[in-house]
Amino acid sequence: MNSQASTLLDNAFKKDVFEGLTQYPKYLYSKYIYDKAGDKLFQDIMELPEYYLTNSELEILSLYKDEIVDLFYKNEESFDLIELGAGDGKKTKVLLKHLAEKKIDFVYKPIDISQNAIDNLSEALGKEIPNVTVRGEKGEYFEVLERLQSFSSSKKIILVLGSNIGNLLHPRAIDFLTKLKDTMTRDDLLFMGFDQKKNPQTILDAYNDAAGITAAFNKNLLVRINRELGGDFEIEKFKHWELYDPETGTAKSYLIATEAMKVTIEALELTIHFDPWETIHTEISQKYDEKVIKWLAKESGLEIETSFKDSNAYYTDYIFRKKL
Ligand code: AVI
Repeated sequence: MNSQASTLLDNAFKKDVFEGLTQYPKYLYSKYIYDKAGDKLFQDIMELPEYYLTNSELEILSLYKDEIVDLFYKNEESFDLIELGAGDGKKTKVLLKHLAEKKIDFVYKPIDISQNAIDNLSEALGKEIPNVTVRGEKGEYFEVLERLQSFSSSKKIILVLGSNIGNLLHPRAIDFLTKLKDTMTRDDLLFMGFDQKKNPQTILDAYNDAAGITAAFNKNLLVRINRELGGDFEIEKFKHWELYDPETGTAKSYLIATEAMKVTIEALELTIHFDPWETIHTEISQKYDEKVIKWLAKESGLEIETSFKDSNAYYTDYIFRKKL
């Protein structure tokens, strides 16, 4: 990239869009889906009948809230409940209500890449569960992990719900888990949700819903480039496509150009070309089994304390501790 280009690419979004769309094959990072419209589309996805992940995890949290809270509050020590990728907190509220009812001393620290999500969540919690202390933080996982180190000296319970880890390929997931582990002491716990391998059709349906919300969610990347970077993507000429590999457990999302196209992105002073049926890879949603989770834990210096499954065994929440 020349120096003129690098002064144009003065923020991470511009830089990543430039890099992703000038590579072959083209890609865009799924984290950029989440602006105000993307947050709303993800909330709509969580309400879809096909998107079983949310209800599976809600079932686990409702069924096992007593056991879970007992593990969090084992030595009756106050703690910080730090949630990475909190979103609208739909699932967390089950735990927060239970903790509040039991008058347990804790501070809830939701962390999200979207300030909009944090603001909405803090406002909603203020109304719905006013006796919970909420201190939200905006940021990206890896950046916030650094900040976690300097957080209060209270015991930490780190929550990563929604199989958010599944949006990372294994090497990055290990890197993420290792960095999380490095912020933990022996008393701290990591509570993390992992979507499981299952009938491939169930997975394909979850990422290819009949109402087309997941397609709109992926296409929001292009909408955002048009609005924020002066792009001229003709959104309706892109088709959302989902693939699932039952061997690796990787679901992959694409946007595919249905005809040859020229797209100009003003803020990047960039013109790109699409061949008919050329792809933009937009997201991975990894599915797991126990062997893979044990391997991820071992590679990251964590040990499994316990785990909880929903009645369909679609989804598992694990509790990890730092391995000494
Ligand atoms: C946030 N993340 C775990 C979701 C997933 O299942 O990968 C995002 C999503 N993409 C399409 N539908 C939902």
